[in-house]
Amino acid sequence: MGRHTEWDDELSKDTKQRRNNRKKRHVGADQAYMDGESSEFIKSLDSSKGTSWMAEKKYKRMFTEIEEGLSGVMGDGPFEWVDRRVFDAVFDRLTLMSLYKLMKSGMIDTLDFPIARGKEAHVFHGTGESGPVAVKIFHTSNAVFKNLIQYIEGDPRFGGLKRRHRDLVDIWVRKEFRNLSRLEKWGLAVPKPLGVHKNVLVMEYLGTPNAPSPRLRDVKVIEPEPVYDELLEFLAVAWQKAKMVHGDFSPYNIMWHDDRPVVIDVGQAVVQSHPRSKEFLVRDVTRLVEWANKSGLDVELAEAIYDVLEMDLSHLETKEEE
Ligand SMILES: Nc1ncnc2c1ncn2[C@@H]1O[C@H](COP(=O)(O)OP(=O)(O)O)[C@@H](O)[C@H]1O
Ligand SMILES: [Mg+2]
Repeated sequence: MGRHTEWDDELSKDTKQRRNNRKKRHVGADQAYMDGESSEFIKSLDSSKGTSWMAEKKYKRMFTEIEEGLSGVMGDGPFEWVDRRVFDAVFDRLTLMSLYKLMKSGMIDTLDFPIARGKEAHVFHGTGESGPVAVKIFHTSNAVFKNLIQYIEGDPRFGGLKRRHRDLVDIWVRKEFRNLSRLEKWGLAVPKPLGVHKNVLVMEYLGTPNAPSPRLRDVKVIEPEPVYDELLEFLAVAWQKAKMVHGDFSPYNIMWHDDRPVVIDVGQAVVQSHPRSKEFLVRDVTRLVEWANKSGLDVELAEAIYDVLEMDLSHLETKEEE
């Protein structure tokens, strides 16, 4: 791929914004110097590969600024799988740029240790201005895509494919952020969404200082009945009020936090008007009923579906439609 990539847009947007900011406020000498440096940094971005770019002098200053904040995930941590390969897989240049922005804005001070890795994302424990945060970093290219891209890159007929893939990832992350906000507005138990920038989502952290809370699938709930009722009501409020379906409502995506269930992983959630929303709803309720019966309750699927659709939720105050 040539030099004219998504960075050209990024550059002009950034440059414009910086110019505006300068007009608006007096910039201290240090700040001006830093701005100069980071604009140099952005200007000099090209299509270099891998993480070797970090060692180059021109990137070094910016990286040095956030390096300390990232030291927890660079190989000194207690997790054996935190090594250069993980680092290289997760922290590509655009992701580091996103982290740089989130760190500059104070949303994140440090990334401390990894919590989980999935096919689509790594989740990290971070620390922000007001305490711990969970930072979900979506992979910008999957293995398959990485494999394909070498054939596609440089072929002019496929110009922009890489860009489109990245755009899709970014849209997906923003969708997860918006879904969290919408569910939270209805008082549902989800991690509070705090911020999003490109492929990085920052949300409330669920856990102790040392470890995340377990998932529902990892715990034996002693009293499953109130937990079942709460989760059934979650589905009912989401459907009737927020007009949404989770779509992947399994004990893997429900955390057990402070003796209560908290629902996570809402990127794939869809609105009622989605052509498959009812199918997803039935699947979600089925999963919940399976969990309930495995936990010792005696629950009927038909009854559960009826409850989700018809449960009287008039006690919930009306919220504005989005
Ligand atoms: N807000 C959070 N606080 C603590 N741990 C979290 C949080 N969100 C996710 N996790 C951990 O990260 C794992 C993966 O998160 P999830 O959103 O389900 O991503 P994926 O799309 O990879 O399944 C979860 O199973 C959980 O262990
Ligand atoms: Mg998940």
